[in-house]
Amino acid sequence: MVNVGILGATGMVGQRFIQLLADHPKFEITALTASARSAGKKYEDAATWYLDSKIPESVKDITVVDTDPDEVKDVDIVFSALPASTAAVVEPKFARSCIVASNASAMRMEPDVPLVIPEVNPEHFDMVEIQQKNREWDGFVVTNPNCTTIALTITLKPLYDRYDIKRVYVSTMQAVSGAGYNGVPSMAIVDNLVPFIGEEEEKIETETRYLLGDYDGETVTPASFGVSASCHRVGVVDGHTEAVFIEFEEDLEVDDVKKSFNKFKGLPQKLNLYSAPINPIVVREEENRPQPRMDRNTDKGMAVTVGRVRKDDAFDNSLRYVLVGHNTIRGAAGASILNAELISEIM
Ligand SMILES: NC(=O)c1ccc[n+]([C@@H]2O[C@H](COP(=O)([O-])OP(=O)(O)OC[C@H]3O[C@@H](n4cnc5c(N)ncnc54)[C@H](OP(=O)(O)O)[C@@H]3O)[C@@H](O)[C@H]2O)c1
Repeated sequence: MVNVGILGATGMVGQRFIQLLADHPKFEITALTASARSAGKKYEDAATWYLDSKIPESVKDITVVDTDPDEVKDVDIVFSALPASTAAVVEPKFARSCIVASNASAMRMEPDVPLVIPEVNPEHFDMVEIQQKNREWDGFVVTNPNCTTIALTITLKPLYDRYDIKRVYVSTMQAVSGAGYNGVPSMAIVDNLVPFIGEEEEKIETETRYLLGDYDGETVTPASFGVSASCHRVGVVDGHTEAVFIEFEEDLEVDDVKKSFNKFKGLPQKLNLYSAPINPIVVREEENRPQPRMDRNTDKGMAVTVGRVRKDDAFDNSLRYVLVGHNTIRGAAGASILNAELISEIM
């Protein structure tokens, strides 16, 4: 077994890590960290557990420690669910001696840090060699994109491989869990919608083009199509919904698009990785799907569900569809775990 730690283990994403790793065949949780507020307490006393499964017996009695490499002994991988400002300071310290698989945005766009969705751009892992040389670390940092970007980019990948994309517009309806446990007060979101999520639109617009960009062994040239996002918080607990509008250079058939979605598979599927969904994209034909409550847990929350795939007759060569992705599984903890599984297999 590989010993793993979770940084920020008491938060929304930290709890998902614990849930997803509790029965993992290769990774064993041996260390949990959080802020000074939680350090020194047993995990079950430190965390306000919000998931509908029970706290796994194997972690209940683990003592939460400070998020400091001196406090976390004998781990090979740490999964980071820290706020970006803390991650920026702490992740490089951990990377001196172990692998850091991070959800935080702090290091995502650094030129020697891979930002990876395993089905989309596993070749970006080659950057690790440059990172270790540049920084003289024995370990390294790999990151996964923002939750909304992951679901969007998985659906764009088979289209990008087959057609010339000119522009992408996306309007999101994002779950409250995306803001963390204390993120959105109930008084702000019940009977309401908040049409602003700080820095989210910028992340989608930048990360999507970067993930689909060309890596020449040294730098990434982002994909050249434009991306425009409008992000909104809605009163859903888990599962981000996105309405996607794409303009292409050429005309296309809806049936061909659906076939591209249905047959799309990547390296995790080829290698049969433990957390890989059988089909990264699942297409629904019902006119009222996907819906977050019904579709967020498709294939253990690791598949993105797409529906309402149709031409957009208002503009030439245009397509529109709706997607749902589980933000704390496929969009966060599950994404980091899949990255770590792929690293363990290929590096
Ligand atoms: N939620 C999502 O859907 C989602 C998706 C993708 C990426 N992310 C990213 O994942 C990260 C975690 O998000 P989250 O939603 O899980 O946040 P969260 O619920 O607020 O949890 C934050 C975690 O970090 C710990 N922490 C806070 N300040 C700290 C400090 N100064 N030193 C050490 N630990 C500290 C907290 O510990 P205490 O309990 O002790 O305060 C808690 O364990 C963020 O960077 C976020 O942007 C989240």
